[in-house]
Amino acid sequence: MNIVEAIKSRKTIRGFKETPVPASVIEEIIDIARRAPSNCNTQPWHFAVVSGGARQNLEARLLEEAASGKAPYPAFGHWDKGISGQYQQRRHQCAAELYGVLGIEREDKDGRNAQTLKNWRFFGAPHVGFISMPSSLGILNAVDVGIFLQTLMLLFVEYGLASCPQVALGYFPGPVHEIAKIPEGNGIVCGISFGYADDSARVNRVRMGRATVEEISTLVE
Ligand SMILES: Cc1cc2nc3c(=O)[nH]c(=O)nc-3n(C[C@H](O)[C@H](O)[C@H](O)COP(=O)(O)O)c2cc1C
Repeated sequence: MNIVEAIKSRKTIRGFKETPVPASVIEEIIDIARRAPSNCNTQPWHFAVVSGGARQNLEARLLEEAASGKAPYPAFGHWDKGISGQYQQRRHQCAAELYGVLGIEREDKDGRNAQTLKNWRFFGAPHVGFISMPSSLGILNAVDVGIFLQTLMLLFVEYGLASCPQVALGYFPGPVHEIAKIPEGNGIVCGISFGYADDSARVNRVRMGRATVEEISTLVE
Protein backbone atom coordinates (compact mmCIF):
# COMPACT_ATOMS: atom_id res chain seq x y z
CA MET A 1 0.00 0.00 0.00
CA ASN A 2 1.34 3.45 -0.82
CA ILE A 3 1.08 6.44 1.47
CA VAL A 4 -1.82 8.06 -0.45
CA GLU A 5 -3.91 4.89 -0.22
CA ALA A 6 -3.10 4.53 3.48
CA ILE A 7 -4.10 8.14 4.26
CA LYS A 8 -7.31 7.89 2.23
CA SER A 9 -8.40 4.52 3.56
CA ARG A 10 -7.67 5.17 7.26
CA LYS A 11 -10.73 6.01 9.24
CA THR A 12 -11.82 5.79 12.83
CA ILE A 13 -13.19 2.36 13.70
CA ARG A 14 -15.55 1.90 16.66
CA GLY A 15 -16.34 -1.80 16.39
CA PHE A 16 -13.61 -4.46 16.66
CA LYS A 17 -13.25 -8.24 16.54
CA GLU A 18 -12.02 -9.95 19.72
CA THR A 19 -9.09 -11.52 17.86
CA PRO A 20 -5.84 -10.29 19.42
CA VAL A 21 -2.98 -8.92 17.35
CA PRO A 22 0.27 -10.93 17.78
CA ALA A 23 2.67 -9.14 20.16
CA SER A 24 5.41 -9.40 17.50
CA VAL A 25 3.26 -7.32 15.10
CA ILE A 26 2.57 -4.66 17.75
CA GLU A 27 6.29 -4.48 18.52
CA GLU A 28 7.16 -4.21 14.81
CA ILE A 29 4.70 -1.31 14.39
CA ILE A 30 6.13 0.54 17.40
CA ASP A 31 9.64 -0.09 16.08
CA ILE A 32 8.75 1.66 12.80
CA ALA A 33 6.64 4.43 14.40
CA ARG A 34 9.61 5.54 16.51
CA ARG A 35 11.06 6.95 13.27
CA ALA A 36 8.49 9.79 13.55
CA PRO A 37 10.16 13.23 13.59
CA SER A 38 10.15 15.58 16.59
CA ASN A 39 11.51 18.99 17.45
CA CYS A 40 15.28 18.64 18.13
CA ASN A 41 14.66 14.86 18.10
CA THR A 42 13.29 15.07 21.65
CA GLN A 43 10.83 12.18 21.00
CA PRO A 44 8.64 13.26 23.92
CA TRP A 45 6.12 10.41 23.43
CA HIS A 46 5.63 7.23 25.44
CA PHE A 47 3.30 4.50 24.17
CA ALA A 48 1.88 2.02 26.71
CA VAL A 49 -0.12 -0.91 25.30
CA VAL A 50 -2.56 -2.80 27.52
CA SER A 51 -3.92 -6.23 26.48
CA GLY A 52 -5.37 -9.45 27.96
CA GLY A 53 -6.29 -9.55 31.66
CA ALA A 54 -4.86 -6.08 32.29
CA ARG A 55 -7.12 -4.70 29.55
CA GLN A 56 -10.19 -6.32 31.14
CA ASN A 57 -9.24 -4.93 34.52
CA LEU A 58 -8.67 -1.45 33.09
CA GLU A 59 -12.03 -1.50 31.28
CA ALA A 60 -13.82 -2.32 34.55
CA ARG A 61 -11.98 0.40 36.46
CA LEU A 62 -12.54 3.09 33.79
CA LEU A 63 -16.21 2.24 33.37
CA GLU A 64 -16.67 2.53 37.11
CA GLU A 65 -15.30 6.09 37.03
CA ALA A 66 -17.00 7.13 33.77
CA ALA A 67 -20.42 5.77 34.73
CA SER A 68 -20.28 7.27 38.24
CA GLY A 69 -20.84 10.77 36.89
CA LYS A 70 -17.44 11.85 38.22
CA ALA A 71 -16.05 14.97 36.50
CA PRO A 72 -13.20 14.13 34.07
CA TYR A 73 -9.70 15.15 35.21
CA PRO A 74 -7.49 15.06 32.07
CA ALA A 75 -3.80 15.97 32.42
CA PHE A 76 -3.74 18.62 29.71
CA GLY A 77 -7.11 20.30 30.14
CA HIS A 78 -10.46 19.73 28.51
CA TRP A 79 -10.67 18.82 24.83
CA ASP A 80 -13.39 21.35 24.00
CA LYS A 81 -11.66 24.33 25.65
CA GLY A 82 -12.04 27.31 23.31
CA ILE A 83 -14.11 25.42 20.71
CA SER A 84 -16.68 27.73 19.12
CA GLY A 85 -17.97 28.95 15.74
CA GLN A 86 -17.20 26.70 12.77
CA TYR A 87 -15.28 24.27 15.01
CA GLN A 88 -18.30 23.84 17.22
CA GLN A 89 -20.43 23.31 14.09
CA ARG A 90 -18.07 20.60 12.83
CA ARG A 91 -18.17 18.94 16.23
CA HIS A 92 -21.98 18.86 16.09
CA GLN A 93 -21.87 17.55 12.53
CA CYS A 94 -19.48 14.79 13.63
CA ALA A 95 -21.88 13.71 16.40
CA ALA A 96 -24.86 13.96 14.03
CA GLU A 97 -23.15 11.68 11.47
CA LEU A 98 -22.16 9.14 14.11
CA TYR A 99 -25.56 8.99 15.83
CA GLY A 100 -27.30 9.16 12.45
CA VAL A 101 -25.63 5.94 11.27
CA LEU A 102 -26.52 4.29 14.59
CA GLY A 103 -30.14 5.52 14.43
CA ILE A 104 -29.82 7.28 17.80
CA GLU A 105 -32.10 10.32 17.96
CA ARG A 106 -30.94 13.72 19.24
CA GLU A 107 -33.34 13.56 22.20
CA ASP A 108 -32.33 10.00 23.09
CA LYS A 109 -30.02 10.84 26.00
CA ASP A 110 -29.74 7.25 27.22
CA GLY A 111 -28.81 6.05 23.73
CA ARG A 112 -26.14 8.72 23.41
CA ASN A 113 -24.76 8.00 26.89
CA ALA A 114 -24.59 4.29 26.16
CA GLN A 115 -22.64 5.01 22.96
CA THR A 116 -20.29 7.40 24.80
CA LEU A 117 -19.61 4.80 27.49
CA LYS A 118 -18.33 2.44 24.77
CA ASN A 119 -15.23 4.67 24.71
CA TRP A 120 -14.18 3.09 28.02
CA ARG A 121 -14.96 -0.39 26.68
CA PHE A 122 -12.40 0.41 24.00
CA PHE A 123 -15.18 -0.28 21.47
CA GLY A 124 -14.48 -3.99 21.99
CA ALA A 125 -10.85 -3.75 20.82
CA PRO A 126 -8.47 -6.33 22.30
CA HIS A 127 -5.73 -3.71 22.77
CA VAL A 128 -5.63 -0.16 24.02
CA GLY A 129 -2.62 2.13 23.84
CA PHE A 130 -1.95 5.32 25.80
CA ILE A 131 0.20 8.10 24.44
CA SER A 132 1.73 10.22 27.16
CA MET A 133 4.37 12.91 27.44
CA PRO A 134 5.90 14.74 30.41
CA SER A 135 3.20 16.92 32.01
CA SER A 136 5.65 19.84 32.10
CA LEU A 137 5.72 20.01 28.27
CA GLY A 138 3.46 22.16 26.13
CA ILE A 139 1.76 22.56 22.79
CA LEU A 140 4.86 22.32 20.59
CA ASN A 141 5.76 18.97 22.11
CA ALA A 142 2.15 17.87 21.64
CA VAL A 143 2.69 18.46 17.92
CA ASP A 144 5.41 15.77 18.03
CA VAL A 145 3.04 13.45 19.86
CA GLY A 146 0.37 14.06 17.20
CA ILE A 147 2.82 13.15 14.45
CA PHE A 148 3.66 9.94 16.32
CA LEU A 149 -0.06 9.19 16.63
CA GLN A 150 -0.74 9.58 12.89
CA THR A 151 2.36 7.51 12.08
CA LEU A 152 0.98 4.72 14.26
CA MET A 153 -2.49 4.95 12.69
CA LEU A 154 -1.10 4.71 9.15
CA LEU A 155 1.06 1.75 10.12
CA PHE A 156 -2.03 0.03 11.54
CA VAL A 157 -3.64 0.43 8.09
CA GLU A 158 -0.56 -1.04 6.39
CA TYR A 159 -0.72 -4.07 8.71
CA GLY A 160 -4.45 -4.67 8.09
CA LEU A 161 -5.43 -3.27 11.48
CA ALA A 162 -7.86 -0.55 12.54
CA SER A 163 -7.85 2.02 15.31
CA CYS A 164 -9.80 4.65 17.21
CA PRO A 165 -7.83 7.56 18.66
CA GLN A 166 -9.63 8.65 21.85
CA VAL A 167 -9.32 11.80 23.84
CA ALA A 168 -11.91 10.20 26.16
CA LEU A 169 -9.26 7.73 27.32
CA GLY A 170 -7.41 10.57 29.03
CA TYR A 171 -10.46 11.74 31.04
CA PHE A 172 -9.96 9.42 34.03
CA PRO A 173 -6.19 8.93 34.18
CA GLY A 174 -6.05 7.41 37.72
CA PRO A 175 -6.56 3.73 36.79
CA VAL A 176 -4.57 4.16 33.55
CA HIS A 177 -1.43 5.35 35.37
CA GLU A 178 -1.71 2.41 37.74
CA ILE A 179 -2.49 -0.38 35.27
CA ALA A 180 -0.70 0.83 32.11
CA LYS A 181 2.41 1.82 34.09
CA ILE A 182 2.61 5.33 32.63
CA PRO A 183 6.08 6.80 33.32
CA GLU A 184 6.34 8.96 36.44
CA GLY A 185 5.71 12.64 35.62
CA ASN A 186 3.90 11.93 32.34
CA GLY A 187 0.36 13.00 31.48
CA ILE A 188 -1.89 11.13 29.06
CA VAL A 189 -2.51 13.02 25.80
CA CYS A 190 -4.94 10.45 24.41
CA GLY A 191 -5.56 6.75 24.05
CA ILE A 192 -6.01 4.57 20.99
CA SER A 193 -8.02 1.37 20.80
CA PHE A 194 -6.82 -0.98 18.09
CA GLY A 195 -7.23 -4.43 16.58
CA TYR A 196 -9.08 -5.94 13.64
CA ALA A 197 -12.15 -4.06 12.37
CA ASP A 198 -15.53 -5.75 12.71
CA ASP A 199 -16.87 -5.04 9.23
CA SER A 200 -20.37 -6.13 10.26
CA ALA A 201 -20.62 -3.34 12.88
CA ARG A 202 -23.00 -0.64 11.71
CA VAL A 203 -20.96 2.11 13.41
CA ASN A 204 -18.07 1.42 11.07
CA ARG A 205 -20.12 2.65 8.11
CA VAL A 206 -19.49 6.24 9.21
CA ARG A 207 -17.35 8.17 6.76
CA MET A 208 -16.67 11.66 8.11
CA GLY A 209 -16.52 14.55 5.65
CA ARG A 210 -13.84 17.21 5.50
CA ALA A 211 -13.60 20.96 4.85
CA THR A 212 -12.52 21.87 1.31
CA VAL A 213 -8.98 22.78 0.19
CA GLU A 214 -10.12 26.43 -0.14
CA GLU A 215 -11.49 26.44 3.40
CA ILE A 216 -8.35 25.13 5.02
CA SER A 217 -5.51 26.57 2.94
CA THR A 218 -4.15 29.66 1.23
CA LEU A 219 -1.68 29.56 -1.64
CA VAL A 220 0.22 32.82 -2.11
CA GLU A 221 2.61 33.62 -4.98
C1 LIG B 1 -6.79 13.16 19.01
C2 LIG B 1 -8.12 12.52 18.65
C3 LIG B 1 -9.01 12.22 19.66
C4 LIG B 1 -10.23 11.60 19.36
N1 LIG B 1 -11.07 11.23 20.40
C5 LIG B 1 -12.16 10.46 20.13
C6 LIG B 1 -12.93 9.94 21.21
O1 LIG B 1 -12.67 10.16 22.39
N2 LIG B 1 -13.97 9.12 20.89
C7 LIG B 1 -14.29 8.83 19.59
O2 LIG B 1 -15.26 8.07 19.38
N3 LIG B 1 -13.59 9.34 18.55
C8 LIG B 1 -12.53 10.14 18.79
N4 LIG B 1 -11.74 10.61 17.75
C9 LIG B 1 -12.09 10.28 16.36
C10 LIG B 1 -12.62 11.50 15.60
O3 LIG B 1 -13.98 11.68 15.90
C11 LIG B 1 -12.40 11.24 14.08
O4 LIG B 1 -11.00 11.19 13.83
C12 LIG B 1 -13.02 12.33 13.22
O5 LIG B 1 -14.41 12.35 13.38
C13 LIG B 1 -12.70 12.11 11.74
O6 LIG B 1 -13.13 10.83 11.35
P1 LIG B 1 -12.14 9.76 10.72
O7 LIG B 1 -11.01 9.53 11.70
O8 LIG B 1 -12.97 8.52 10.54
O9 LIG B 1 -11.62 10.30 9.43
C14 LIG B 1 -10.56 11.29 18.01
C15 LIG B 1 -9.65 11.64 17.01
C16 LIG B 1 -8.46 12.23 17.31
C17 LIG B 1 -7.47 12.54 16.19
